[in-house]
Amino acid sequence: MNRKIVVTSALPYANGPIHIGHLVEYLQTDIWVRFQKANGNQCLYFCADDTHGTPIMIRARAEGIEPEELIKRVHKEHIRDFESFHIEFDNYYSTHSEENKQLSELIFNRLVEKDSIVKGEIEQAYCDGCNMFLPDRFIRGACPKCKAENQYGDSCDTCGATYQPTELIKPACATCGKEPVRKKSIHYFFRLADYHKKLKELMAGGYTGKSVSNKLDEWFSAGLKDWDISRDGPYFGFKIPGEEDKFFYVWLDAPIGYMASCKNYCDKNGLDFEKVWNGEEYELYHFIGKDIMYFHALFWPAMLMGSGFKIAKRLFVHGFLTVNGEKMSKSKGTFIKAETYTKHLDPEYLRYYYASKLTDGVGDIDLSLDDFVAKVNSDLIGKLANLASRSVPMLTGKLDSTLGTIDKEGKELLNQLAAAKEQIINEYENLDYASAIRQIAALADIANKYVEQNQPWSMIKTDAEKTRVVLTAIVNAVKILAIYLKPVLPEFVGKIEKILGVESLSFADVEKVLENKKINEYVRLAERVDKEKVQAMLEESKNESADAKAMADKSAEQKPQVTLDEPLEAECTIDDFKKVDLRVAKVVKAEKVEGADKLLHLELNIGGITKSVFAGIAKAYEPEVLVGKLVICVANLQPRKMKFGLSEGMILAAGPGGKDIFMLGIDSGAKPGQRIH
Ligand code: 2FM
Ligand code: ZN
Repeated sequence: MNRKIVVTSALPYANGPIHIGHLVEYLQTDIWVRFQKANGNQCLYFCADDTHGTPIMIRARAEGIEPEELIKRVHKEHIRDFESFHIEFDNYYSTHSEENKQLSELIFNRLVEKDSIVKGEIEQAYCDGCNMFLPDRFIRGACPKCKAENQYGDSCDTCGATYQPTELIKPACATCGKEPVRKKSIHYFFRLADYHKKLKELMAGGYTGKSVSNKLDEWFSAGLKDWDISRDGPYFGFKIPGEEDKFFYVWLDAPIGYMASCKNYCDKNGLDFEKVWNGEEYELYHFIGKDIMYFHALFWPAMLMGSGFKIAKRLFVHGFLTVNGEKMSKSKGTFIKAETYTKHLDPEYLRYYYASKLTDGVGDIDLSLDDFVAKVNSDLIGKLANLASRSVPMLTGKLDSTLGTIDKEGKELLNQLAAAKEQIINEYENLDYASAIRQIAALADIANKYVEQNQPWSMIKTDAEKTRVVLTAIVNAVKILAIYLKPVLPEFVGKIEKILGVESLSFADVEKVLENKKINEYVRLAERVDKEKVQAMLEESKNESADAKAMADKSAEQKPQVTLDEPLEAECTIDDFKKVDLRVAKVVKAEKVEGADKLLHLELNIGGITKSVFAGIAKAYEPEVLVGKLVICVANLQPRKMKFGLSEGMILAAGPGGKDIFMLGIDSGAKPGQRIH
């Protein structure tokens, strides 16, 4: 009986482009989904943009737009990129949706009813300048270990140390540069530890693979901790029911986004969401990267357990991507955006290459660019495309585009290829694509050997009908290999289907032989990869990163940065500023202050009012030169008691300090007391 399957991939954040690192997961999942479909199963693939949280809010602010506008734009870009790599979701939705809001509230309320949510007070970093609590990543300062400047609040990029934001030297808000203060707030916590036993049972039941469950054992041994699921405003997210300025933490509503995407699809297609998402008839699988295991192996299933929803049958976890053996690097141009890749290379090359590397393990996969070029050219072009290009044009050009029958030798070849079917199916099913690809390449070798042995290009000169028989076997071999490759290379195989004049091929067609039928004109299946194109892609990526850096530097000139020695004060509104009453004042008296070598004591005449002011300008001005001068004074400053007396105003003077302080003087015939605007 055909299976009914629902599949999800992790939701990408809506504040950045899809890059080749992300594509490992979406391609791994898409190949699996396509395989299920080609193997006769019903399979629905759901994903969405992960739209909430502080980084998205801040990014929108930096662009001077609302978060809604940012996530709308990024949604379009993500869909464009996924489509260009032939990643075919049944629904690509957004966590900023009504369905997600309702499901998040439903799950939260059910967890509250179950006593799985408690409130507690915590103290966090808060920026008075931005009026918001600061996530660790939004606090910058010098690393407490290696002293490198401008590091994140949780870890140092230079020495790799991890620490608490409170340990940073000279911590500063990454947005405005102000030193954060500590502030208390009430938060909501999910009592994860209550689910310890059930989660252990889930793992024992095979929810994850061995290496993942080993990691989980470490977490179980360390003890499961309460999880903070709320954030104070301002925050871009869903408000917590009954709260005015508290929101669900992005990681609470993100996985619920899987359900929301499914619900939206079901509603649009007349399906019963309860059945599709929660029913036993459908098997549910999640694909994720190893960095978000904690969320998907602990929090997420526990949330589902507590709220009465079904848990996925299996969590598939993959490793990270390295390029040429190293982390993707902007300066080396290996941090390649999906969009940049497609300008230079065929997306199916990457599908093929990733497939040739992917296994069910959590080890990292390496995109070695030389190996990439070699493998695409030798396997995809040299073995697979070559088989079609050595058979189809001869049939269409010289043999009336008509297949003949298959002889004994041909049958032997096809039987050999077909015999691999079950194993290849198992390899796809178990995510061992690397083995499947190896096997397909080996089968292509066998088929190419058959071509060499029969030499149709010579045979055609003497025996057209025998050649037709040979070519019919080769075309059938192409068909079988095309079926095997279909999950990986949908376009490539689509072209083969067109040439063969067949409907969508599936694994059930492996044994069905094409004989005595017309085929269509040959179209080129793929081009060889040019090393220069790879180089050009790297260059472009490098330039994009340099441009992005220049843009960031440029906006840094306009925006306050954490590099300021003295961070900016809290914003003052224009209304605040208007309260400052600036007046022309005449210096009536000026004298040094004993015991304070920076201060001058001034007596100012502000249109009949006399004010006594202490000004820090003694190093820059001799008192005598000031007497009789017109200056500008903040006349309505609240008097301040200083060590040396009461200061009733302030004169306008500025500069780095010492001798370099410059007073704003007035040389015209302005009158003391006159207001300055
Ligand atoms: O790590 C990430 O990129 C997250 N946006 C993944 C979320 S997956 C799911 F939980 F929504
Ligand atoms: Zn700030």
